[in-house]
Amino acid sequence: MTSETHQRPKVTVPELARMKALGEKIAMITAYDVTFARLVDLAGVDVILVGDSVGMVVQGEANTIPVALDDMVYHVRLVSRAKPRALIVGDLPFGSYQVSPQQAVESSIRLMKEGAECVKLEGGVVMAETIEALTRVDIPVVGHIGLTPQSFHRMGGHKVQGRSGGFEAGGRERLLEDAHAVEQAGACAVVVEGVPLDLAADITKKLSIPTIGIGAGPCCDGQVLVLHDVLGLSDLTLKFTKQYANLRDEAIEATAAFVREVRDGTWPDDAHSFH
Ligand code: KIV
Repeated sequence: MTSETHQRPKVTVPELARMKALGEKIAMITAYDVTFARLVDLAGVDVILVGDSVGMVVQGEANTIPVALDDMVYHVRLVSRAKPRALIVGDLPFGSYQVSPQQAVESSIRLMKEGAECVKLEGGVVMAETIEALTRVDIPVVGHIGLTPQSFHRMGGHKVQGRSGGFEAGGRERLLEDAHAVEQAGACAVVVEGVPLDLAADITKKLSIPTIGIGAGPCCDGQVLVLHDVLGLSDLTLKFTKQYANLRDEAIEATAAFVREVRDGTWPDDAHSFH
């Protein structure tokens, strides 16, 4: 699988449109450092998202709101050192783009200088002007609608959106408007998070840009998950994630074996010692 992956050309922004046109599903996963960026790239993902979920899975925060732009700059730098075949998307954290389109451009330039090939921001209609400002200066943008984790306090937690009719925040009609606004503003793709699968299917059918789902059912043009959930490194079990391995238990067992051998004197043995 490794050599096959590397024979495939670098994933670029236009490639996402091509994949949607051909009906090829897009696999996106998060990574926050060079070690895991190399691993997921070898596994053949199309897009690496340096997500602000780093705040929860690496920094131990309860939500993504405390993540700073400097943190994202640092993690994009680490991931870009893997020189992946996958497209690198850098997440704009809360407070780094909401003030004005100019602030969004300045923050995005910092991520692009570190190796991001595209940025992601949360919000639909309200972010249209900002997305336009970014795309005007050739900064490709992935939108993010539905359950937008940076709206944690407005939503009252990480809650499924778009279940009811009407135009209230999070309503079904509002989400369709958000999806169209993001597309019309020039985004190259949109993450659709935490919405009923029929609504995600409807959005996917109506948009010409790819939808990347998380907790949005199987009909999106692609899927994204948080790496630590996929590998079983987090202790959370969420309905919309899938644990494909249990590295948490393996990591604990391996470290416990080291501790035992240190304590009973069997590590290091002669073979691992210098003479
Ligand atoms: O930060 C992140 O990991 C994300 C995904 C959940 C889409 O935004």
